[in-house]
Amino acid sequence: MVIKNITEDITPSNDWELYSLSETSRRVRMSEVGANIGPQGVDMRSLYRQAGVFSYDPGFANTASCESDITYIDGEKGVLLHRGYSIEQLCETASFPEVAWLLSHGELPTADEKAQFEKGLMREAHLHEQIRNFFNGFRRDSHPMAMLCGTLAGLSSFYGNQGADQRHKITPEEREESTLRLVAKMPTLAAWVYRYSRGLPLIYPRPGLSYAENCLHMLFSMPEAPWEVNPVLAKAFDKILMLHADHGQNVSTATVRMVGSTGVNPFVCIAAGVAALWGPAHGGANEAVLDMLDEIGTPENIPAFMKRVRNKEDKTRLMGFGHRVYKNCDPRAKLMRNICYEVLNELGIKHDPRLELALKLEETALNNGYFISRRLYPNVDFYSGIILRAMGIPSSMFTVFFAVARTAGWVAQWKEMLESKVGISRPRALYTGPAFRDVPEKEKQS
Ligand code: CMC
Repeated sequence: MVIKNITEDITPSNDWELYSLSETSRRVRMSEVGANIGPQGVDMRSLYRQAGVFSYDPGFANTASCESDITYIDGEKGVLLHRGYSIEQLCETASFPEVAWLLSHGELPTADEKAQFEKGLMREAHLHEQIRNFFNGFRRDSHPMAMLCGTLAGLSSFYGNQGADQRHKITPEEREESTLRLVAKMPTLAAWVYRYSRGLPLIYPRPGLSYAENCLHMLFSMPEAPWEVNPVLAKAFDKILMLHADHGQNVSTATVRMVGSTGVNPFVCIAAGVAALWGPAHGGANEAVLDMLDEIGTPENIPAFMKRVRNKEDKTRLMGFGHRVYKNCDPRAKLMRNICYEVLNELGIKHDPRLELALKLEETALNNGYFISRRLYPNVDFYSGIILRAMGIPSSMFTVFFAVARTAGWVAQWKEMLESKVGISRPRALYTGPAFRDVPEKEKQS
């Protein structure tokens, strides 16, 4: 197949034509779909109707599944923009709730909107008391992501049965309400997952604390000894949340959009996103990075580890390295490394063996032909685990807080999907199984 812009040889236009080299008679004309920046798209929707063929793109690496105003990534240059603002500027000047608002509403909040939003986040941070009962059904040693996924889906039975009735379309007001509720309740749920797994009393959100402070308060406070607010750690935690808030059409976000396209309620859409995020190739990588660092142990073992990575039979990967989209340094990784220094400094940790090992590992990989030729650079997960561990958060909780942060992006993408009025998602497969055949006759019973 050849695809070319017909501007070159026919009339000036934004149309493209696609034709088979062997069967030039099968010409299909398709229009270009404009993007504000970055590569343009070719509208393939009429391909099957016009030519009776499907576009084939396993893993969707070359497919734009939607139009979106939310996040732009230039993987070649290492650029990440939310609604046009660079992640570097947002990290410098905004807070996580402001970015959550920006993702969902398109603009940074005014002072009044910010105050109202923060008030709403506080009001909605509480969970229905019966939700405490959910936890008793889980083994205490369950993975926190299993508990988060299960309890989150269960919230749909308390907060509106939106989407359960075919005749009821989720209204704009309900969308707003669910967006607020989900962003507000996730830290409480996440903290309770942790507290339950440790057999600790469940702690309620405290008015007057910021979103990030409340996350840390609900994790670490004890009835007799409330967590003492540390502005440096709270700010660092807020930035970590912000750096994970949205990242375009990654697998968990695409899952949320796909599940949401059925019209089902948003709590289960986000639970589906949590399930997708759990995988080690996606959000589970931050936990895997720490396991990897613990396994390597000391810098002397790096060469042997690198040998295992290069040996494909071994199936070992350098966790926290590589990205489907970034073929340059992930801008979030650079910011995360700075936060790492800030946190260790605040905690008075002069020498962190894990950080020293990670820095050495990064340097080794960036100068290694295997990684250079494949354009593999550190991603957001390479340093986040070191920071969270230093703050006293166990590694099994890392992906849970990734999910808390990504909820801001998921709900924004879910809203945008509903507003776009695109129908239910339904990819096709190139069928490669047996063609028509008869069911063999059953052996006669003797
Ligand atoms: N360590 C060693 N080799 C790697 C790595 C790695 N981390 N990542 C990719 N490669 C190799 C891979 O083996 C393949 O080599 P070859 O061409 O010889 O077969 C080549 O690089 C291309 O790999 P790929 O799997 O086709 O690349 P991808 O774009 O599909 O995968 C990825 C992206 C993130 C799944 C992968 O880089 C990876 O598994 N990284 C480690 C896990 C990780 O850190 N995940 C977090 C991603 S960022 C957070 C998020 O968005 O969720």
